[in-house]
Amino acid sequence: MRKFSFACLFGLALATAFSAPGSAADVAQGEKIAKRWCAACHVVAQDQKQASVDVPTFADAARRESDQQLSAFLVDPHPKMPDLHLSRSEIADLVAYMRTLNP
Ligand code: HEC
Repeated sequence: MRKFSFACLFGLALATAFSAPGSAADVAQGEKIAKRWCAACHVVAQDQKQASVDVPTFADAARRESDQQLSAFLVDPHPKMPDLHLSRSEIADLVAYMRTLNP
């Protein structure tokens, strides 16, 4: 059941990320979420100097991973990272923002 709902959410996240312009991801919103919820551990912006050691920067993650991989990770985050219960539109916004760090 858990697996099923994750798969569902993932599909919805992708649908949101790649759907019509009307529901396009909001980069500015993604940046706001990143700076509020993620910057304690991750370097989330070019002008941010430090965060936790051993946590990948957003620019680095965006270089290594596709939008789909980033979305999938955020739907079902790694145990070392708190589950922040991001909505699928928040995930789409975050991924769109991360992509601007490494187009
Ligand atoms: C409490 C610290 C913490 C917070 C807060 C946090 N993260 Fe993480 N995050 C981590 C750690 C640690 C890892 C590395 C996990 C691993 O690979 O073992 C990670 C990994 C990631 C990855 C995978 C990176 C890669 O290289 O594959 C992404 C994407 C990510 N975080 C996004 C986010 C986003 C978006 C937020 C805010 C909504 C966030 N994180 C908040 C600690 C955190």
